[in-house]
Amino acid sequence: MSHFAHVPRVPGDPILGLLDAFRADPNPAKLDLGVGVYKDAQGLTPILRTVKRAEQYLVEHETTKSYVGGHGDALFAARLCELVLGSDSRLLSSQRADASQTPGGTGALRLAADFIARCLPGRGVWLSDPTWPIHESLFAAAGVQVAYYPYVGADNHLDVEAMLAALQHIPHGDVVLLHACCHNPTGFDLAWNDWLRVLEVVKRRELLPLIDFAYQGFGDGLEEDARAVRLFAENLPELLITSSCSKNFGLYRDRVGALIVCAGSAAKLADVRSQLAFLARNLWSTPPAHGAEVVATILGDPELKALWLEELDAMRARIAGLRLDLVDALRPHGLAERFAHLAIQRGMFSYTGLSPEQVRRLRDEHSVYLVGSGRANMAGIDAQRLDELARAIASVCA
Ligand code: LMR
Repeated sequence: MSHFAHVPRVPGDPILGLLDAFRADPNPAKLDLGVGVYKDAQGLTPILRTVKRAEQYLVEHETTKSYVGGHGDALFAARLCELVLGSDSRLLSSQRADASQTPGGTGALRLAADFIARCLPGRGVWLSDPTWPIHESLFAAAGVQVAYYPYVGADNHLDVEAMLAALQHIPHGDVVLLHACCHNPTGFDLAWNDWLRVLEVVKRRELLPLIDFAYQGFGDGLEEDARAVRLFAENLPELLITSSCSKNFGLYRDRVGALIVCAGSAAKLADVRSQLAFLARNLWSTPPAHGAEVVATILGDPELKALWLEELDAMRARIAGLRLDLVDALRPHGLAERFAHLAIQRGMFSYTGLSPEQVRRLRDEHSVYLVGSGRANMAGIDAQRLDELARAIASVCA
């Protein structure tokens, strides 16, 4: 008898699966615009110099590899909270907010999902349409019901009115997942005034926002990208924030993230965190220490922090430049207007507006890899091959 005879095969991951397909493609001119990792002018995903320096420091000074506690590294948590909520945050000074370290932003989302399932039973989670595809499967895996609010219209533009209209009908008490900046997959971000309007609806409907903050520093700047998060933290009694250091510290494989909880009182925060420690124990026991120690070391050293900010600014500027350059490269093909949105979108990703069929042709005929939804990782573009990329796009748009 085979115990596994009835185990069916599921399709590969819509994003990580592209990595395998790309690696297997023998075409030397292939281009990977799939998974969201930053690439430099040489096409490499470099280790930041500040990360190397922090690692060097840790090799020389760390004294133990014993377990960190259920909430992870307390120094990391304190410094990350300041990065996200601001060093002058009243929530921090009144012990109303704290971070639980998690394996990456995905770990933070899963911990939030398990918390909702266990402690807020019956609450649905509302996702933007479209959203990062793992949001849906992750909440479903935790047994949480998901639903969608509109975000991008059929003609590939941000539809704030449709979003707000839908938010007004979300049942009281449900959870609404918002992307703080660099919306994944579209790159379309809310303007400040839109955030104020969303906040009003959230208050009126007594929704619990869960803010996914995976790209701090990749949109308009480290502080600028945190404005909406801080607006919500200051104006709402309760809030969940998932933060990731994968992109802004380039620590992808080291899995560094956190679930930040803002609560109405220090005592209530302690109650919630006791649940998180319990849930985390059943998921990963205690989080991995190394990457979080790297982040804590960088953020705790003014010189390293200043250098890291320079590195972060350089990554952001390169992506923003590539956006403009691609629109320019598309101009001779008469496509600059059609793809003008590339220049206003923020962060790594661009919802190009290319159809699944055009994405398939880009891959089959030109070895250019995008996510099936038409999402392109702008950080994966090779600046030397912009004309080639523009020609490939033009050929599938013809
Ligand atoms: C992406 O969307 O490409 C990144 O967030 C990486 C991932 O885990 O999917």
